Amino acid sequence: MLILGIETSCDETAAAVVRDGYEVLSSVIHTQIALHAPYGGVVPEIASRSHIEMAPRVIRKAIEDAGVSFGDIDAVAATYGPGLASSLLVGFSAAKGLAVALGKPLVAINHIHAHVQSAFLPPPGPAAANPVGARPDSQALPLLALVVSGGHSTILDIAEDGVPRILGQTLDDAAGEAFDKASKLLGLGYPGGPAIQKAAEAAPAGAARPRFPAGHIEAGNPALAGLDPALCFSFSGLKTSLRSYLERNPAKSQEEIAIVASAYQDAIVGALASRVERALSTRRHRAIAVGGGVSLNAALRARLKEVAAAAGVPIFLPLPKYCGDNAAMIASLAGTGVGIWGDAAMALDVDPGLTFDFA
Ligand code: KG4
Ligand code: ZN
Repeated sequence: MLILGIETSCDETAAAVVRDGYEVLSSVIHTQIALHAPYGGVVPEIASRSHIEMAPRVIRKAIEDAGVSFGDIDAVAATYGPGLASSLLVGFSAAKGLAVALGKPLVAINHIHAHVQSAFLPPPGPAAANPVGARPDSQALPLLALVVSGGHSTILDIAEDGVPRILGQTLDDAAGEAFDKASKLLGLGYPGGPAIQKAAEAAPAGAARPRFPAGHIEAGNPALAGLDPALCFSFSGLKTSLRSYLERNPAKSQEEIAIVASAYQDAIVGALASRVERALSTRRHRAIAVGGGVSLNAALRARLKEVAAAAGVPIFLPLPKYCGDNAAMIASLAGTGVGIWGDAAMALDVDPGLTFDFA
């Protein structure tokens, strides 16, 4: 089963060809970071206009890099949500057109579910060189998944039926957004995550540092909508406390900025890790998987490995190239039979607010 995957939910135009779910024959990602950097965040109209320009080239390159032809493709998978409506429309419409032209089924994929799948993707190359075993994802069920990106911070329970259900989520900003906003306040540029990480790594060990709140949530908060506050996140207060700290203590030297960045990163990593720890305390899950742009963060990866080891469960972290938005995760998930297939997918509109049921 050879699947062409297409991903355009935010600011990456991506296409990939994956065989039988796990053999990544090609993965092409065109990032628009440079286009949005002057604005300090993604500008939806700029994103969709760049997708429409780049999608044909990116898709053609994915086919060429895979060493296959369009006629070899068995299904066309694309993200239909969540994401920016105008960005989703470009990739999903392109996939519809291709599926019709090739006479092959369309597969509509949930972007967040695909981020979980990215943790199970082996490096590109022939299957023989990647003995990951059959369906490593299914052997990890029930799975605890953490998806942390610029738009999402979600803890999912993926039960034996393979269906993700929400255990916890952010009540306001996403973890990546918290990194991006802090980076702006510290004058470190966009995207913020890598900039904060780099600054934090330069912080001198043992220096006195500020403490930022880890986002405690009151049980009665109506935004919880029934979810356990101990499994949810709130990052907007963190950003506010950084702003007021910087007003009181303007960070002047590189070293001061590094110390503040490190304390701020610790607050986010601590908040994420403590929720995961709490979710694992039910002893229900056989493994943890992490995905999304923030899963690239070295401090988070190290901390979550400790949490997993303490709970005695294996942790699946994506290769760096699969942490951010990519299409290999889309084609891979479709290759495991997940998604909405055929005429049902053809009848769908994009769904910018697509979510899961609560666990
Ligand atoms: O998954 P992604 O590429 O796009 C979205 O779907 O949002 O995630 C992008 C987010 C940005 O907020 C970026 O600052 C963050 O991931 N990010 C990081 C790191 N690299 C990217 N956050 C923390 N540490 C990193 N090293
Ligand atoms: Zn994403």
